[in-house]
Amino acid sequence: MEAAEVRVGFVGAGRMAGGLARGLLRAGKVPASSILASAPSDKNLDAWRESGCRTTHCNLEVLQESTLVILATKPHVLPGVLQEIRPAVGPHHIIVSLVAGVTLQTLQRAGAMVFARGSGAGDEEASLLKNLLSSCGLCEEVPESYINIHTGLSGSGVAYVYLFAEAMAEGAVKMGMPGGLASRIAAQTLLGAAKMMLETGEHPAKLRGDVCTPGGTTIHALHQLEKGALRATVMNAVEAATNRARSMAED
Ligand SMILES: NC(=O)c1ccc[n+]([C@@H]2O[C@H](COP(=O)([O-])OP(=O)(O)OC[C@H]3O[C@@H](n4cnc5c(N)ncnc54)[C@H](OP(=O)(O)O)[C@@H]3O)[C@@H](O)[C@H]2O)c1
Repeated sequence: MEAAEVRVGFVGAGRMAGGLARGLLRAGKVPASSILASAPSDKNLDAWRESGCRTTHCNLEVLQESTLVILATKPHVLPGVLQEIRPAVGPHHIIVSLVAGVTLQTLQRAGAMVFARGSGAGDEEASLLKNLLSSCGLCEEVPESYINIHTGLSGSGVAYVYLFAEAMAEGAVKMGMPGGLASRIAAQTLLGAAKMMLETGEHPAKLRGDVCTPGGTTIHALHQLEKGALRATVMNAVEAATNRARSMAED
């Protein structure tokens, strides 16, 4: 099946679902008329309708109308949703979970398939999904054991980066720069550094070494960061978030 022909359904229509749908629409992968989203209230659905997507309050309708079904509720709601949609799941469905801390086993017990392969999803489903979701920058196929680590690194990781950006900007404010300007420069600095990592494929330690002039400003700053144990603290943060995602899966 071509990406343009697939009908995409979202169970849950909040921030994650909305972001994904906007990515699909922006990339022109799927027409708005082929997207259907469900949620109990109209709080989020109004915005979907404004983008031309179809909406419903009935999760089963999403299953009936869609081939690719994306589960995007909060984790505590998912068990009830799985019970509800179970009778409508057929072999033609590709079910994708964005919900943190839910194992494939839980989903399979409910009669569904997900993208982290090894179970029911074949090459065709995987490449359709990759084609669709890669436009949102979200699609890497991984073994299931990486999913909670991905949450600790990236899902929660954006918050570590915001904290780091905030701290950089505050440092500049302390030295006399206005806050708004400092925030913009901090964000641009993060963007530039992230691009360098992706574009060069170099190890970050190499890139960091390259900007350290002997006896210069950067090495003086890095010495302070090492004294404050930034590296160990960030490693601990990734570990804590991963363990939390694992324990949520066991609840
Ligand atoms: N994997 C990752 O890296 C990552 C990162 C962030 C988030 N997530 C996960 O993504 C999920 C969604 O997060 P979010 O921030 O998008 O949440 P959100 O903005 O609160 O959206 C949740 C949506 O679920 C809807 N909902 C509630 N009960 C429902 C039900 N019984 N049936 C169908 N829909 C229902 C809500 O309806 P209303 O519109 O009526 O309120 C809302 O539209 C979470 O499980 C989170 O763990 C994953």
